Amino acid sequence: MNLGIEGRVAVVTGGSAGIGEAVAQELLENGACVLIAARDAGRLRATEETLAARTGGRISSIAVDVADADAAARIADAAVSRFGSLDILVNNAGRAHAGGLMSATEADWEEMTSVKLTSMRRLCKVAIPIMGRRGWGRIVNMSSIGGIYPNPKLLVSHVLSAAICNLTKSLALEVAGMGILVNAIGIGAVATDNWANNMLPAVRRGRPELAALSDHDVLAKVSAELTPVGRPGSAREIAAIAAFLASDRNGFVTGDTIEASGGSDRFM
Ligand SMILES: NC(=O)c1ccc[n+]([C@@H]2O[C@H](COP(=O)([O-])OP(=O)(O)OC[C@H]3O[C@@H](n4cnc5c(N)ncnc54)[C@H](OP(=O)(O)O)[C@@H]3O)[C@@H](O)[C@H]2O)c1
Repeated sequence: MNLGIEGRVAVVTGGSAGIGEAVAQELLENGACVLIAARDAGRLRATEETLAARTGGRISSIAVDVADADAAARIADAAVSRFGSLDILVNNAGRAHAGGLMSATEADWEEMTSVKLTSMRRLCKVAIPIMGRRGWGRIVNMSSIGGIYPNPKLLVSHVLSAAICNLTKSLALEVAGMGILVNAIGIGAVATDNWANNMLPAVRRGRPELAALSDHDVLAKVSAELTPVGRPGSAREIAAIAAFLASDRNGFVTGDTIEASGGSDRFM
């Protein structure tokens, strides 16, 4: 399928690894110019070089913490100055926070809210006027299946994911008349560093009987138990959905949260 996004300018936050990297690759393979944003400048540069070599596409990067107050403006300025526009925004930066209400600190709430929700709001706000100039825009917000089916083992993440689904729906209605479509993806278990760093330790604490298994085997076992398709998802499977939502082939889906979880309502 030709996505019809040749020459479109995309921003992918958290584009240096995992799902964001896969989304950036998918958009580059379809002819979009892509600006990836993340904090670790070394990894960002390495991903930029890898994706440029792999796809031959036009890619650039900006080292930035999306939680910073000026991050959204810096990212939008970089997209416009380097590629001339900002047509596609993929709000993907972030991580999971394992635990419930009682174990989450003030700092946890503040950091998670800034990175996931506040940055998304700010980026949408700076991107929409730029998209409006061309009368075309696509926004894809990475949420979690837990935004629809809350799991107390990931309470902070899932409260924010629910807020992302809600923001996505309302914003889609606000900008529908401008040619801008806004959607979210309710992601289930996907094998990335985020899973390994932020969920696996909590799974191991709660399941001491899995101590002898490798990280790979723990993910395989938990996914087989909780996911009807019997395995975790891949970053490329999420990227394919994001690319469609971000494309010109999508003209009629907006305000939706696509469940991409292998049929599961939880992943730990
Ligand atoms: N994997 C899953 O099972 C799963 C499930 C549900 C939802 N999600 C959501 O999907 C998104 C992508 O997750 P992933 O699994 O691909 O994670 P990942 O492999 O850990 O990649 C996260 C990306 O976000 C960047 N990032 C993190 N915090 C940032 C910040 N404050 N400012 C700028 N960039 C930041 C990271 O780079 P730096 O660290 O260098 O900044 C990296 O590029 C996240 O929002 C996550 O919550 C994932």
